[in-house]
Amino acid sequence: MHGLRVELGDRSYPVLVGREILGDPTAWSSLMTAPQVLVVTNEVVSPLWLEPALAGLGDRQVATLTLPDGERYKTLETLSVVFDTLAEHGFHRDAAILALGGGVVGDLAGFAAACWQRGVDVFQAPTTLLAQVDASVGGKTAVNHPAGKNLIGAFHQPRAVVADVATLATLPDREFRAGLGEVIKYGLGLDAQLFDWLESRLELLVDRDPQVLERAVFWCCSLKAEVVAGDEREAGRRALLNLGHTFGHAIEAATEFSEWLHGEAVGAGLVMACRLAAADGAMSGEDADRVEAMVRAAGLPVAPPPVGSARLRSLMGMDKKVSGGRLRLVVPDGIGSCRVRDDVPGRLLDAVLAEADRDG
Ligand code: NAD
Ligand code: GLY
Repeated sequence: MHGLRVELGDRSYPVLVGREILGDPTAWSSLMTAPQVLVVTNEVVSPLWLEPALAGLGDRQVATLTLPDGERYKTLETLSVVFDTLAEHGFHRDAAILALGGGVVGDLAGFAAACWQRGVDVFQAPTTLLAQVDASVGGKTAVNHPAGKNLIGAFHQPRAVVADVATLATLPDREFRAGLGEVIKYGLGLDAQLFDWLESRLELLVDRDPQVLERAVFWCCSLKAEVVAGDEREAGRRALLNLGHTFGHAIEAATEFSEWLHGEAVGAGLVMACRLAAADGAMSGEDADRVEAMVRAAGLPVAPPPVGSARLRSLMGMDKKVSGGRLRLVVPDGIGSCRVRDDVPGRLLDAVLAEADRDG
């Protein structure tokens, strides 16, 4: 087991990454003092991983809430069900919520914890690769609104994150590969050493070799912890974590958030960001090729779907990262480094988006 800390003063917290740690009472006893715990999970994760989680919690008042599965349930209505359950069990200010599941459960349970009694502790036990390397760390919590994703939310840092890579053994292949999109993002955007390491171990990673997986998750969490510690509210550097996401978000929106998984769209978005950087001279064509080869080897798409460049461009213009009328994009400066830019020539962007004009 490896541990790191997200340094945020009196809200600092540990992130534990290991194998078969979810059901380890010694791990939990040192992290959680709450006498009452509501475990929030979903109908897919519950039969697989609830039992070890409960074993880890030991002797306290524990209640469980099993939600329906899926992004479409990340809503205010489902949030109400969490509050109803907390009320029904008489959970007070010193209660805690344990989020057991992927990013949907983590975001929703985290937001419930931010609101209940004006804020109770939340513990994140992420069970998808995406949630282990991204969603569970950093305190962003939210539910969706019909007007858009994650529109209602709060920053509410967890008290601890317990990322047990053993839980990834049951993850469907497509979900696992989607998580690799975020893993590649960390290497490309923040750490050339990680990128090199991933290049030499990608096959093992795709095969879910437990040791490689544990190291990859720990490495990504360390990078995220450092970014969040320096910029909790995304006033600056935290925006770098959106590398590939402006393209990715447009792809997800153009396909009605139903055809592409988030990590798949991020995979194609990373390649598009590299193509843009190469056209602008910020990155070499060889490095852009390396990124494309890695995204492909991870089993992720490397180009946008044929939805038309005009549609993608307009969806990118509607993206949250627009500031003062100029499109702000995170663009690599090479492998291992990136920055937010609002000066990318429109004709270069158009050339990259033109891939979406090909026939289906
Ligand atoms: P998800 O939570 O929907 O999980 C994907 C699927 O895998 C679901 O069907 C889930 O039930 C299933 N699953 C989870 N763990 C499993 C396991 N161990 N074995 C088998 N099946 C398992 O999706 P996700 O990709 O984990 O998260 C996406 C969500 O995370 C989105 O709502 C997104 O907005 C959010 N997100 C939040 C942040 C953040 O910083 N808070 C960052 C990135 C993404
Ligand atoms: N997922 C991006 C962030 O946490 O800031």
